Amino acid sequence: MKLPKFEVEQWMTDYENDAVCNLTDTCIPALTVKELLAMDEAGDFQNVRLDYGAITGDLRVKEEILKLYQSGDSDSITTSQGCLQGNEMVMETLLEPGDHVITFKPGYQAFSDYPRALGGTVTELPLYEDDNWQPSVSDLEEAMKQKTKLIILNDPNNPTGIRFNDAFITRMIELAKEQGTWILSDEVYRDPACPSVSDLYDRGISTGSLSKMYSLAGLRFGWIKGPHDLIQKINERRDYSIISTGPLADTLAYIALKNKERLLERAENVIQANREIIQDWLKNEPACSVVLPEFCTVSFLKYEGDIPSKQLALDLLKKHGVFFVPGACFFHENHLRLSLTADPEVMKQGLSLLSSYLHQN
Ligand SMILES: Cc1ncc(COP(=O)(O)O)c(C=O)c1O
Repeated sequence: MKLPKFEVEQWMTDYENDAVCNLTDTCIPALTVKELLAMDEAGDFQNVRLDYGAITGDLRVKEEILKLYQSGDSDSITTSQGCLQGNEMVMETLLEPGDHVITFKPGYQAFSDYPRALGGTVTELPLYEDDNWQPSVSDLEEAMKQKTKLIILNDPNNPTGIRFNDAFITRMIELAKEQGTWILSDEVYRDPACPSVSDLYDRGISTGSLSKMYSLAGLRFGWIKGPHDLIQKINERRDYSIISTGPLADTLAYIALKNKERLLERAENVIQANREIIQDWLKNEPACSVVLPEFCTVSFLKYEGDIPSKQLALDLLKKHGVFFVPGACFFHENHLRLSLTADPEVMKQGLSLLSSYLHQN
């Protein structure tokens, strides 16, 4: 199976370490092991036995994951090494050559190129910036005239940070029911107070992880929630790849999820501080605009002018140490992925350097 270069991930790999002002990181600043273990009041971590652990995922951690949803039981959940691997497991389990898949752009490249690499045909529906990055129901109705095996969304979406609106989700589920279409929703940026497609539709699948809003990307811990028969099939495939996520990650994930309110509050404070700085900056920056999300770590900033986004991002990095992922990595020019995770002073400084650059060029 051949896969093209994953543009956004390669950009991060190539340039992230040169960043002085990183204005594009999708994760709330990571916790240290010490900070996480300070939440381990019961001393669970010290008693971890380093066998394979529960093969289909530790029961205690699955019960904590279930609290992020409205429905399901422990057989509705399996664990993965991050959300990305969860997505891969779902696509590999469901898709066969010739299957039609619908996804959205700008979006995360894995959702178009991975199904293509599996031999599927992919329709990418636009998200409309002038409609707050929403998709159109009529585009979906048109695309679903072709029998569709799977719809893949990322809700909230990377790079826009915006949630799909309820009316669209309702219509999408109606259309999916008519054909028995599966819906995979990558909910790695989801606020658990918001609906999950896996609670709304019996062929709805949610993937998530502790990487973004829970500040623990280094744990490489994620999950899949879906109907029992699909989870069972995924568990059977896991025997060929990871066997289990292991008791070390399972226990640390359990400790994190037991303390999710604290972690989510921390995330909210970081996002809110960044939102305010961005809103203030925009008041005096006519060359830029952005649809700011309520509660997500990313947004997609539009800038005026003719400079290609890769050139702009590289110039800013080399001259001033300000780091963005260019829109070109999402196949969408005149945009930069602007995160809401930076230290406030870094955000202010980086935005001011962006302004100077835009007005000099
Ligand atoms: C939409 C989306 N899904 C998954 C991932 C990766 O998540 P994880 O670290 O849990 O594998 C990312 C990371 O940027 C992402 O943006």
